[in-house]
Amino acid sequence: MTARDTLTVFGSINLDIAVRVEHLPRAGETQLGSDARMSPGGKGANQAHAARRFGVPVQLIGAVGDDAFARPALAGLRANGVDVSGVRTLANLPTGLACIAVTPGGENSIVVAPGANAGVCASFVTDAQLARTRLVLLQMEVPFAQSLRLAARARERGCWVMLNAAPMVDAQIPSQAVDWLVLNHVELDQLCAARAVTGATPTGRALQLALLLGVDVALTLGSRGALIAGRDGRCLAQPALAVDVVDTTGAGDTFAGVFGAALVAGLPEPTVLRAAVVAASLACCHAGAQVAQPDRQQIDAAL
Ligand code: RIB
Repeated sequence: MTARDTLTVFGSINLDIAVRVEHLPRAGETQLGSDARMSPGGKGANQAHAARRFGVPVQLIGAVGDDAFARPALAGLRANGVDVSGVRTLANLPTGLACIAVTPGGENSIVVAPGANAGVCASFVTDAQLARTRLVLLQMEVPFAQSLRLAARARERGCWVMLNAAPMVDAQIPSQAVDWLVLNHVELDQLCAARAVTGATPTGRALQLALLLGVDVALTLGSRGALIAGRDGRCLAQPALAVDVVDTTGAGDTFAGVFGAALVAGLPEPTVLRAAVVAASLACCHAGAQVAQPDRQQIDAAL
């Protein structure tokens, strides 16, 4: 029997082009920025990279284009031991590209051209890949219908499924479709609006949503840390580390990747939450997405 020790990410792969700016550009504004840098990104790839840095086996299923951006987009994953044999090269489509503006305070604004990510299909994931999977991690940068299709197939085969609903392209997430939802406060508000969930506090709204959708929710709250709101009413909070923020790009991806990896590693829930919050805090201390992610040793040292 195959061991279910792997985290499978079904998601996007981008090349990020980031530029430092004084402020996020306004409509019609051209601004002279600085420190342009190209680095690997994409929410799926970033989450796969973060999970692998935490130490669990990771396979990434997705697509790149048949172009010069494909190799740098995959370089960090390969170097860190993510299994990218399930990444297809799609002819006549470009590799996904993200244009990112970053302010001195570390805030960002991102525009994504999906390219090959738009051609990703659930059928790219084989039964053999699912047989060794403990948890499937999804986002919303590849076609959501394909992610839902894979979620159903994976759950039938006994995998856990976690959806990071970012960017929120479809707020109609069916009930019972996944085990875990990872949200930030904006995504929480979007889902609550779609389901007419009201409540005075994010915690209260997250708990109601968890009950309504039959899922467990991990809610990130930026510099305030994160919390778990369970479908059974349990609630756990974890403050962030106090750090000097350089760039928040991909901090949410680091949270999701480490959260998933820590679940796969069988850690208890409070430790899972702590590790994910600490990893996301540390990832804000350096520029870039994958290149800023800490490894397990750095996370444990900060814990
Ligand atoms: O979450 C950050 C990521 O969003 C970037 O790496 C960029 O590629 C976009 O997908």
